[in-house]
Amino acid sequence: MESALTARDRVGVQDFVLLENYTSEAAFIENLRKRFKENLIYTYIGSVLVSVNPYKELEIYTKNHMERYRGVNFYEVSPHIYAVADNSYRSMRTERKDQCILISGESGAGKTEASKKILQYYAVTCPASEQVQTVKDRLLQSNPVLEAFGNAKTLRNDNSSRFGKYMDIQFDFKGAPVGGHIINYLLEKSRVVHQNHGERNFHIFYQLIEGGEEDLLRRLGLERNPQQYQYLVKGNCPKVSSINDRSDWKVVRKALTVIGFNEDEELLNIIASVLHLGNVQYGGEEGNACITSDTQIKYLARLLGVNGTVLTEALTHKKIIAKGEELMSPLNLEQASSARDALSKAVYGRTFTWLVNKINASLAYTDDSYKHYSVIGLLDIYGFEVFQHNSFEQFCINYCNEKLQQLFIELTLKSEQEEYEAEGITWEPVQYFNNKIICDLVEEKFKGIISILDEECLRPGDASDTTFLEKLEDTVGGHPHFVTHKLADGKTRKVMGRDEFRLLHYAGEVNYNVNGFLDKNNDLLFRNLKEVMCMSENKILTQCFDREELSDKKRPDTAATQFKASLAKLMEILMSKEPSYVRCIKPNDSKQAGRFDEVLIRHQVKYLGLMENLRVRRAGFAYRRRYEVFLQRYKSLCPDTWPNWQGKLADGVATLVKHLGYKPEEYKLGRSKIFIRFPKTLFATEDALETRKHSLATKLQWYLHWDHSIAIQAWWRGILARRRAQRRRQAADTIRRFIKGFIYRHKERCPENEYFLDYVRYSFLMKLHRNLPKNVLDKSWPTPPAALTEASEHLRKLCMQNMVWSYCKKISPEWKHQMEQKMIASEIFKDKKDNYPQSVPKLFVSTRLNGEDINPKVLQALGTEKMKYAVPVTKYDRKGYKARPRQLLLTSSSAVIVEEAKLKQRIDYAALKGISVSSLSDGLFVLHVPSDDNKQKGDVVLQSDHVIETLTKIAICADKINSININQGSIKFTVGQGKEGIIDFTPGSELLVAKAKNGHLSVVSGLSHPQLHSVSLQRFPIVSK
Ligand SMILES: Nc1ncnc2c1ncn2[C@@H]1O[C@H](COP(=O)(O)OP(=O)(O)OP(=O)(O)O)[C@@H](O)[C@H]1O
Ligand SMILES: [Mg+2]
Repeated sequence: MESALTARDRVGVQDFVLLENYTSEAAFIENLRKRFKENLIYTYIGSVLVSVNPYKELEIYTKNHMERYRGVNFYEVSPHIYAVADNSYRSMRTERKDQCILISGESGAGKTEASKKILQYYAVTCPASEQVQTVKDRLLQSNPVLEAFGNAKTLRNDNSSRFGKYMDIQFDFKGAPVGGHIINYLLEKSRVVHQNHGERNFHIFYQLIEGGEEDLLRRLGLERNPQQYQYLVKGNCPKVSSINDRSDWKVVRKALTVIGFNEDEELLNIIASVLHLGNVQYGGEEGNACITSDTQIKYLARLLGVNGTVLTEALTHKKIIAKGEELMSPLNLEQASSARDALSKAVYGRTFTWLVNKINASLAYTDDSYKHYSVIGLLDIYGFEVFQHNSFEQFCINYCNEKLQQLFIELTLKSEQEEYEAEGITWEPVQYFNNKIICDLVEEKFKGIISILDEECLRPGDASDTTFLEKLEDTVGGHPHFVTHKLADGKTRKVMGRDEFRLLHYAGEVNYNVNGFLDKNNDLLFRNLKEVMCMSENKILTQCFDREELSDKKRPDTAATQFKASLAKLMEILMSKEPSYVRCIKPNDSKQAGRFDEVLIRHQVKYLGLMENLRVRRAGFAYRRRYEVFLQRYKSLCPDTWPNWQGKLADGVATLVKHLGYKPEEYKLGRSKIFIRFPKTLFATEDALETRKHSLATKLQWYLHWDHSIAIQAWWRGILARRRAQRRRQAADTIRRFIKGFIYRHKERCPENEYFLDYVRYSFLMKLHRNLPKNVLDKSWPTPPAALTEASEHLRKLCMQNMVWSYCKKISPEWKHQMEQKMIASEIFKDKKDNYPQSVPKLFVSTRLNGEDINPKVLQALGTEKMKYAVPVTKYDRKGYKARPRQLLLTSSSAVIVEEAKLKQRIDYAALKGISVSSLSDGLFVLHVPSDDNKQKGDVVLQSDHVIETLTKIAICADKINSININQGSIKFTVGQGKEGIIDFTPGSELLVAKAKNGHLSVVSGLSHPQLHSVSLQRFPIVSK
C-alpha cells in the first residue's frame, strides 16, 4: 500500500483513513472519483473494502492476480477483493477463528459478483484433493442454480438477487474447502405474479421456455413464447440483451447434474405449473368466480399430481367453518385471482426453500472421522433501499441493514479497543451514533413496529393498513425516529403522503407506504388450497406442503416475525465470527462503464454509512504499522537507522521519528506498532522518502557506472554478510536463552529454563553414554547436574547390576572355585593379618607340590586317600625350635606331615582343635591337637611361604573356618606331656625365627616376599572364553 502513497495526487489514497479531511463527504467522493477514473475500483476504510462497480471486465481477476494476493499482507498490495478473501482465509487458518465477509450495497452495486469472486479465489487457491474438487465444483455450481430461481431482471440490475443469501464455506484442518451451507432470506415472491414495467419474472421461467427441448415443452404443455404467459408479460420485457436464456438454461441443467440432482422432472413440473396457474382465467355470473377454460386445470392436475376437480373448487371457493360445519363459500373474481396468485407464490416460494435445502444436502460435509471444520461465511444481502415508493419489502430490508450496522459498530469498536489494549495505548472514547434505538423501534416486543403490525394482522374486526398506521401513531408516535403525516411539522408534511410513516434510519430518512403491509405480513394461503397441495403426488411438493401443517391449529408466524427471527439467528452466526466488510457502490443507474454519477454515489455513501465507518476507524489514529515494517520502509531517512538498526525495533522507530521531528501529539508507540494520528505526518515522511530514494538512486547509478564488478562484489559480500549476521543472531539467541536458563536453573521447569534444563540433561546423558564404567571394578561415574541426581543414581545402580549380571554369566567353574576360596580367605584374614592384602591379587593354586615332588612311598602309604593340596613347609621342633623342611599334605580326612618318604605325623581333621597364627606378616602357624592324644606328640609349629593360601586350604578341607585364631604378640602351644611352648611375634623388616633366651620361639615378622609360585591376578586367565 505504501508503494502507492506517492501516486496519491493522481489516484487518490488507497485507504480513506489517510484522507486529511476525513469528515468531508466531498473529499471522500473525490477520492473515489480519482480512483474510479483510473480503473481502481477498490479502496479501503481501514480493513473495510469499498468497491465501485466498473460495469466492464477488468483484467484484475486472473490466476496471476490470485497468486499475487495469496498469503500477502493487506498493506503490501493494492486493495482488492482477493486481499479480503485471503486475509480472512489466513486469519481462519492461523488464528483458528471462524470468519465472515459481509457484502452490502444497493441493487446492482456488485455484491453477488464480489461473492462469486471470493468463491472463485478459494476454489483456485485452496488445496484440493479429488473429493475436495467435487465440493469446489458444487459450491461454484450452486450459484447458477440459485440465480436461475432467485434472480431476475429489474430496472436496476439485469441479474438482481431477489433474496438474501448467507453461505458458509467449510474448510478442513488442511485448509481445503470440504463443504458448505446456505441460508436464504426473504425471497421476493410477489415477483412470481407481478413485475413492474421493464422488469422480468425469475430467470428460470424464460430459460425453460427458451432453452427447453421440444419434447420437454410438449410434456409440460408449454409454448416457446413467453408472451403466452400472464405471469411473464406484466413487465413487457421478455428479452434482455445482456441475458442469453438459452445458454443459461444449459448452464443450469449442467449445474443441477453437478449438484447431484435427480428431481429435475418434478422441479420443472412445478415451474410449468406456475405458468399454467397464471393463465387460469376467471369469469362468472353474479360475482362468483368460475374458471372459464379447463385446459390449464388439466395440465395443472397432471403436473402437480392433484385432482383437477378438487383444484378447480379450491381455486374458486373458500372453506369456512360456521357453527362447527364446514361450508364452501364461493369467491368473487378478485378474491379468486388473489387466491390463485397466493397459491403460485406459495408454491414457488416453498420450492425455492426446498431447492436451497437440496443444495445444502449436496454440499454437506460428510466425513465423520473429522467433525471439526473452520468456516468462512459470505453474506450477500440487500443494502439499504430507498425508492420513491417504499413498501413492506423495503421496510424489512432496511431493518436488516440497521441490524448489520449495529453489528458493524459493535465489532469494529470492539476490535479497535482490543488493539489499543494489546498495544498498551490508552483508549480514547469515540463519539458515534448508536442505532440500537432504531432497531428497538422496529423489533421491540409489544412496543415495536413489527409487534404492532402483527397485532393488527391477528386481531378480529376490521383491521386494515390504515388502522395499522393509526396504531403506530398511538404507540410509537413520540419516538424521535418515527414520524407520520399527522405528527410531522409543516415542512415534512409536504414530502409525506397521508398513508406513509417515516423512519429516521441511521443512514437517512425513508418514507414507507402502509398499503399492502397487512396482506404481505399475513402471507395467507386459503386452507382448501393448502389441503390440495398437501395431497400432491409431486415428490417435491409433498416435502413443501406437510400434512401436519393442516392439523396445526397454531397460526403460522407472520412474515415480519419470521424475518425478525431469521435476522436474530443471522446476527448470532455473524457475532461468533471475525467479520470483514465489503461495501459495494453503483456508479450510475444506466449500467454504463466509466460514468461516475456523483449524486447517486453521494446517496450511497450516505446510506451505506461509509462516513460513519470512516469516523469510527479514524477516531484515534489514521495509520498503524508494526515496527519492523515501518523501520524497514523509512530507515534510510535517519543516519542512525541506515542501513540497519542493530538494537530493539521500538528504539529504532523512536530514534527514527525523533530524527524526523514528529511531535508527541502526532504519534504513539505501542508494544509492537507505531500509531500515527494524522495522514499529513505520514505523507511528509513519505515525501521525504521519495527525495531520499532519488538521491540514493543517483549515488547507486554512479557506483554502477564506476564499476559493475564492484557492484557484484558488493552484492555478494552483502549476501555473505547477511548469512554471517543470521548465524550470529542465532548464536546470540542461543546464548541468551542459555544465560536465562542458567539464572533460572534451580527453579521449577518454566519457559525461561526449559531449554537450558533440556540441554543440561541431554549433555549429561551423552557424556555418560561415552564414559560408562568398563567393568565392575571401575567406580568412575560422571557427576550429574542437580536436577538429575536421583536419576543418575538409578542409572548407576542399573549399570552396575548389568555389569555384574553379564560378568556372572561369563564366569568359568574354575574361577568360581577360586573366588569361593578367596571369599573364605577374606572372611578369615581380612583386616586381621598383615600379609593378607598381598595375598589378594595372587591366585590360590590347586597344589604347590606335584606327584613327582612327593615320595612314592608316601603316596603309597596314603593309599586311596585323595590328596587335596600339598605344600612345602618348615617345621620347628617343639623343644629346640630347630627348623626342618617338611611337606604338608592335605587329604580328604587329615593333614599329614611328611619328611622325605616318612609320614611323620597325621592329624585327623576331627582331632584338629584349632589353628593359631599371628596377626603379622610371618608365615608361622600352629596346628593344635588334643594334649591327651598319645598318638600326637603335641601341637605342630609350621611355617609356610603361602600361609594365607595354606591355612585357607586347611580351613576348607578340615571345615575349620571358624577355628583359626589370629593372635597378637604370642601364641601358646603344647609340647607334650602337659608342657607349653610360647612363640613371641614382633614386627620387623626381615623374617627371623630363632630361640630366644627366655626359651620362647622368637619370630620377627619380616615384610612378605613375592613368591616364586605366585601368579598375578591380572595375568591369570580368569574368564573362560
Ligand atoms: N467487479 C465487477 N467487474 C465487472 N462487472 C461487474 C463487477 N461487479 C458487478 N459487475 C456488473 O454489475 C452487475 C450487477 O452486479 P451484481 O449482480 O453483483 O449486483 P448486486 O449488488 O448483487 O445487485 P442485487 O442486489 O440486485 O443482487 C453484474 O451483472 C455485472 O455486469
Ligand atoms: Mg445480487
